[in-house]
Amino acid sequence: MSFNPLTEKGINLDEQVRNWAELNVEPYDKASVDPYTRCRVIAMNGIEVEAVIFSHQFNRHTDVPEVKAALAEIRRIEQQQQKVVNWLIPAEESTLEVTLGYEQEAVDLTAWLARSEPDPYLRQTYDFGLLEDFDHLYRYANLYELIEGKQAEDVVARLTEVMPGRPTRVEHRHPADNIRKHYDRHTVDPLSRLHALTITAAEQQTMNFYMNIGNRYLEPVARGLYAEIGMVEEEHVTQYESMLDPGESWFEQLLLHEYNECYMYHSFEAQESDPRIRRIWELHLAMEIEQLRIAADLMRRYDGRDPLEVLPAALPEPVLLEPNKQYVREVLADQVDLTSLGTGYVRDAHKRFQENLKRVNAAGNPSEEVIDIHRERFGREYRLQTEGPHPVRELREEAFAGQA
Ligand SMILES: [Fe+2]
Ligand SMILES: [Fe+2]
Ligand SMILES: [Fe+2]
Ligand SMILES: [Fe+2]
Repeated sequence: MSFNPLTEKGINLDEQVRNWAELNVEPYDKASVDPYTRCRVIAMNGIEVEAVIFSHQFNRHTDVPEVKAALAEIRRIEQQQQKVVNWLIPAEESTLEVTLGYEQEAVDLTAWLARSEPDPYLRQTYDFGLLEDFDHLYRYANLYELIEGKQAEDVVARLTEVMPGRPTRVEHRHPADNIRKHYDRHTVDPLSRLHALTITAAEQQTMNFYMNIGNRYLEPVARGLYAEIGMVEEEHVTQYESMLDPGESWFEQLLLHEYNECYMYHSFEAQESDPRIRRIWELHLAMEIEQLRIAADLMRRYDGRDPLEVLPAALPEPVLLEPNKQYVREVLADQVDLTSLGTGYVRDAHKRFQENLKRVNAAGNPSEEVIDIHRERFGREYRLQTEGPHPVRELREEAFAGQA
């Protein structure tokens, strides 16, 4: 069933404003929440945060009073949407439990984007990032059992496996090797555009989250792990935002942001298992439809261009959060030893990569220490392998046990 947000009726901007009680939504129930509902909340929070941050940047780059006012009015609503979405997360969920949700979301969102990405180079970029967030999930899962005595399976269920990916200690590239080629705004498939915006928003929010909460632990290994993985999220944001064509005008970017918000709410509404949260996605979709209409008017007026030049005739197939176990295993088997050189992917541990690793890993890695400490304490590491042994022989647990 095709859905064109440009021809749908939304909610007037004036009527989108909510009072404090409406913003302060009841959180979901930690014990019964569907892990993918948690992931959808995390993803949509990232999308709304990006809407706000982008709008602030636009505000700093325009001197047209009417444009500044229109941006401020929409931005206030984006902020309210962000509060409603992020306040769905209950205080009973610990910071580490939310963190496990962030990395599960990163894994299954990135895998879905990779599987549906039409451009081979962009798809390679998703595959590349996928194996790193997959490894983060495993490191945090070990920290979780170490600090809270609980198993990550209670949070991620058996939807996403937990085992090593590309080891975090070799994810630390020279910054120049995190730049990627961007799509061409004249020829790009609209789906690639939306994918790039979604992953950039999601990874940016993960980066922000670790920047803010990584110091909320007493244990040195926990503080260290958040600092180390937080630096990888900086690499991920650099990599993913590089995919966006910088030649898009501010108005075109605004239009694409609003369109992507419509796409994501529409996708998640269709898939949401919690009826109350589904109604939030529906409401926000109706809001975004009007925000999109305003963005389209601004583009016509100030760029003199028709938004239909850049938007598809209908929303693409919905983005789905679902298990990607076999896909992740295939990518692991093929690509675990990849790194990058400039905008390309290579297998050879080239000079500036080695030099950077030597420097940042000079006093060891929290991402390795957390596993070592866990093994010492429990006589094993934490893994959740539902589909058999690790596809990469050197990353099987026996391989480590043999070293002890
Ligand atoms: Fe929004
Ligand atoms: Fe990550
Ligand atoms: Fe990431
Ligand atoms: Fe919006």
